[in-house]
Amino acid sequence: MCLVVFPFKKENPQVVLNNVKIAAQHPRVEEVLCVGVEKEETYRGLEQNIPSLKMDTNKEINLILQERIGDKRPGKGDGMNTALKYFLEETDSNNILFFDSDIVTFGPHWITKAIEGADMGYPVVRHYFPRASTDAMITWMITKTGFALLWPASELPWIEQPLGGELLFNRSVVEKLVQEKDVMNRSDWGIDTMYTFYTVKYGYPMLETYISEGKLHKLYGKLSDLRTMLVECFDTIKSLKDTSLALSAKSPDTEHLSVCNGGIVHRAEHPHEVPAEVFEKIGFDIEGSLTLLVENWTPRMEELLDLFPRRVRDGLLSNRTSPSFSFMDEHTWRETYYVLLEHFDSGDEDWQELIFKLWTSRVLCYTTTIALRGYFFAMRYLYSMIDRYMSHSARQIIKKIKGTDRK
Ligand code: DGY
Repeated sequence: MCLVVFPFKKENPQVVLNNVKIAAQHPRVEEVLCVGVEKEETYRGLEQNIPSLKMDTNKEINLILQERIGDKRPGKGDGMNTALKYFLEETDSNNILFFDSDIVTFGPHWITKAIEGADMGYPVVRHYFPRASTDAMITWMITKTGFALLWPASELPWIEQPLGGELLFNRSVVEKLVQEKDVMNRSDWGIDTMYTFYTVKYGYPMLETYISEGKLHKLYGKLSDLRTMLVECFDTIKSLKDTSLALSAKSPDTEHLSVCNGGIVHRAEHPHEVPAEVFEKIGFDIEGSLTLLVENWTPRMEELLDLFPRRVRDGLLSNRTSPSFSFMDEHTWRETYYVLLEHFDSGDEDWQELIFKLWTSRVLCYTTTIALRGYFFAMRYLYSMIDRYMSHSARQIIKKIKGTDRK
């Protein structure tokens, strides 16, 4: 049996309640848990309506506030980690399933598909969806890029949506995750990256199932809507950069495979259908985002740019007078990313604004040179960009190891 969890912040209570009801009515679901951040309107709406939902469905439905567990900004990570602890301490269910609470296309098959994966023996099941070519810009430019550059021969860059919030873990996965300091401390948007990283590091077989109708979430406004998430997701990757996925047994012949995790079982369902509206959707407000490049410059940000290759420094600096982003192509972004891995400081406001401007230029460059050529062209490009990052980085790592061997 399963515990279904909906972490929430401020949502339309009717949407959340509808999803809770769908989950509670599912025959394989034992309990539904809603985890809120604070007692605001959404929380009160749920509080009022849960008693009658319990009567109608004859299931356990609970509403709690998230605990303060981590040491980063109190956010989604504390919510999800609170649920992991609850699952172990308060239930004897076999599986925990997380779903974002604001999904308007949620249906019982979302639960069934995850449970079928668990029934086949997968301890980790993740859902993935079709997303517009200009959506998922943290996923592509930060998370998948970071996975490809740092662990190129591992399964990590192959995971379709490493920031996805629709997940199933069985009990043994949760028992491991709650022991992991990195995971429990990550109270912010970095939690999805931590779950993804550690489930791969532990070597758990993973199934990714495809939900063709997707989540139809609200579109973002300007790219600044994603600024906090960007900073926290990059900071998470940076915090993991020296963590190896290597198997413990190494030999000189296989040492270069220390970039690899020994090959976990990872299967992804074929993405059989993409709804028409995904082709047409624009992920963010392009015009509104241009001004973000020009505002909020400080003298220190200009100094920090000296750490970057000249192309990056001069390209970004020209934004002090008018928006400029075409310099930030795939190769320039890769070089930028390496410098950020070395020097970025998430607690420093100038660094936050700098990474935001660098990423914004990358997103605008991609949007205006690649995404405007259509959905399929853009998707082919994004996947092949990750392939190119993986092979470039694997070559560099192998060269370095062999070079060191010869010394
Ligand atoms: C991502 O990049 O996946 C974030 O959800 C923003 O779209």
